[in-house]
Amino acid sequence: MSELALASGMPGTGLAKKAVTITTRTWFVAAALGHWIFLAYILAVFFPPIATQGLDGLRGLHLPAGFREGEFLGNLAAASHVLLAAIIIGGGPLQLVPAIRTRFPAFHRWLGRSYLVAAVLSAVAGLYMVWTRGTVGGLAGHLGISLDGVLILVFAVLALRDAMARRIRQHRRWALRLFMVASAVWFFRVGLMGWVMLTGGVGVEFKTFTGPFLTFLGFAQYLLPLAMLEWYFRCQARPSGAGQWLYVVTLACLTGYMCVGIFAAAMGLWLPRL
Ligand code: HEM
Repeated sequence: MSELALASGMPGTGLAKKAVTITTRTWFVAAALGHWIFLAYILAVFFPPIATQGLDGLRGLHLPAGFREGEFLGNLAAASHVLLAAIIIGGGPLQLVPAIRTRFPAFHRWLGRSYLVAAVLSAVAGLYMVWTRGTVGGLAGHLGISLDGVLILVFAVLALRDAMARRIRQHRRWALRLFMVASAVWFFRVGLMGWVMLTGGVGVEFKTFTGPFLTFLGFAQYLLPLAMLEWYFRCQARPSGAGQWLYVVTLACLTGYMCVGIFAAAMGLWLPRL
């Protein structure tokens, strides 16, 4: 994980190139702040009860797939899943800051290894919870998040393979893809809360946590960020003025929506529980 960098070294010329860099950096700053609000919630809600009561601390939490009497392995999976989320949600954005990578390379490497291990363990624990205990939502939701879990495992292996072989350019790409899929749960919350705020929840059946919008979001939570990332790579590799401007407009609209979602998730889900 030693070569993560966003919006640095973009080839191309002129205003379009600058606009791509500024829009991507603006997206990143908003996403990083949103991640750290979610991190504050994770630290405040999950850490104190589990630190003081062990697995019994899961009992009082709002987690339908959280605590089951006498199921040690499943309870351990649930506890480690929510605790490891702190490394993934808190550490992911830090890995993408070029200044941290260049000024504190040892910290970047240490955090990169921790992030990789946390993402793999958390994905395995999440898959175990979904398919042995069930959770809210229908089959489409379960399939959507499970594919995300599989992609986390695949991208983690590919990022590690290229890092060990010192293929730094490829490693950077796989590490960025890993960030997008490991943060899918954050994109999901932000995407859902933004939608609820703007439309009142069209296509969402709140009682069963199913419906067309949730089916869409179950896959879009990582496919859309991955598609935008591939487009960003394309803007870097084969810069063309029109393509770059289209990317800028699309990312600016998505960033606007993301900011609405961050506000709605912070006010509706995270800050009230601190
Ligand atoms: C690796 C990135 C992931 C992170 C950072 C993460 C984070 C979290 C957090 C913070 C919660 C607590 C819910 C909340 O209060 O908002 C949670 C719950 C949960 N997650 Fe994840 N998650 C990740 C990936 C996954 C994957 C890949 C799966 C399944 C394949 C999964 C399945 C679950 C389940 C089943 C719950 C419990 C929901 C319930 O109690 O019904 N997670 N996750």
